[in-house]
Amino acid sequence: MRFDTVIRNGTVVTATDTFPADVGIVGDKISAIAAGLPVENSGKTIDARGRLLFPGGIDVHTHLDMPFGGTTSADDFETGTIAAAFGGTTTLIDFAIQYKGQSLREAFDTWMKKAEGKAVADFAFHCIITDLGSAQLEEMGQLVREGVSSFKLFMAYPGVFMLDDATIFRAMSQAAKHGGLICMHAENGGAIDVIVQRALAEGKRAPKYHALTRPTTAEGEATSRAIALAEMAGAPVYIVHLSCNEALEKVREARDRGLPAYAETCPQYLFLSLENFDVPGFEGAKYVFTPPLREKWHQEKLWQGLARDTLQVVSTDHCPFCFKEQKELGKDDFTKIPNGGPGIEHRLSLVYTGGVHGKHFSPNRFVELVSTAPARLFGLYPRKGTIAVGSDADIVVFDPHQEDTISAATHHMRVDYSMFEGIRVKGVPKTVLSRGQVIIDGGKFVGRRGAGQFIRRQTYSGV
Ligand code: URP
Ligand code: ZN
Ligand code: ZN
Repeated sequence: MRFDTVIRNGTVVTATDTFPADVGIVGDKISAIAAGLPVENSGKTIDARGRLLFPGGIDVHTHLDMPFGGTTSADDFETGTIAAAFGGTTTLIDFAIQYKGQSLREAFDTWMKKAEGKAVADFAFHCIITDLGSAQLEEMGQLVREGVSSFKLFMAYPGVFMLDDATIFRAMSQAAKHGGLICMHAENGGAIDVIVQRALAEGKRAPKYHALTRPTTAEGEATSRAIALAEMAGAPVYIVHLSCNEALEKVREARDRGLPAYAETCPQYLFLSLENFDVPGFEGAKYVFTPPLREKWHQEKLWQGLARDTLQVVSTDHCPFCFKEQKELGKDDFTKIPNGGPGIEHRLSLVYTGGVHGKHFSPNRFVELVSTAPARLFGLYPRKGTIAVGSDADIVVFDPHQEDTISAATHHMRVDYSMFEGIRVKGVPKTVLSRGQVIIDGGKFVGRRGAGQFIRRQTYSGV
């Protein structure tokens, strides 16, 4: 058999198995997996001796080219997918925002225009719903049929994104009817707004007050309410960017009762804490995102949540704003700091370092968290999320022993700082393939602008 590419002598790691094998690729698919594949007539050979082969990472929570907080996130679909690829992520699901008065279709079309012809790796969309009349309610089913099979709703940001409980309940019921999945930003936005106004009245304007005005109870309460609404609607629910133990406990209780409740956390909540605000001047703005950083003890609870399947996914919530000119919009008032942080590039290295080298879970669980479970939950499996014959040849050749120090001086995200500056990681992607094409090789981007395809996702079917 002739292969276009053969990856030789690597160790294949899926969510369930670890075994030495060669991987043969024809076109954009994996066509054979076996030890000692005949390579005589093959095209390219990649030697993966001593390396692990993971399915391409899937980041289900990114905000590329997104207008927010009076500015626009700094990575577009070209720079964002390049940075993602350097970090071993070959598919991302971004958020198409429906603004008030718009149809859901307008949101989808707008974000397709931002991504098509620019993305270097594959992409899909969730739709953020901010205005749900009867027309948009009808449209939810159409969007699901076109492959936009999940919707993000907000219980925070009153006046911008926040929806009331009745609207959330309607959306959940409709999603359940059509096989859609609701992704929930769970924070009690009403209570938070009151606390924020009090802080401003007391002259508390520094970046750390963004975190101190968003208590963990506000996240725990909203998580519990989201789960209750989903239970009444007979719908699955996926809690995004879960940051604290209170919310984790609500998800655990729901799952113990057998409810289809799922949640993701992000590397910032696993590696950073309120202590990051102990920096001079306005520097704390680098850590202003929502939900905010928490006390350090929450980190270990989240790692345990990942190990015990209370949390199913690690995404990044990549929403980069430069410190200069963008974060600085809130120099005199923390409420004007654009919310979000850059993380698309370092998810695999950070989770491997803290999760596998940190002895929280196995390499298989690592693959499940960064690729397989995201694919299953969001209708991409088995095309993506595993190394199997017939799956897309999205493959990361990973050196589990190489060490690196994260720094804005060397990263590829289009942003002038790193949230993880100075953090040492052990485990680095060396070669990355997207649908059979090498796009990262020896520390260089060798892919092509526009090579990324829109992926129509299937309906929700659980994990
Ligand atoms: O601060 C954040 N997380 N910005 C992005 C928007 C969101 O809520 O995910
Ligand atoms: Zn959110
Ligand atoms: Zn987000």
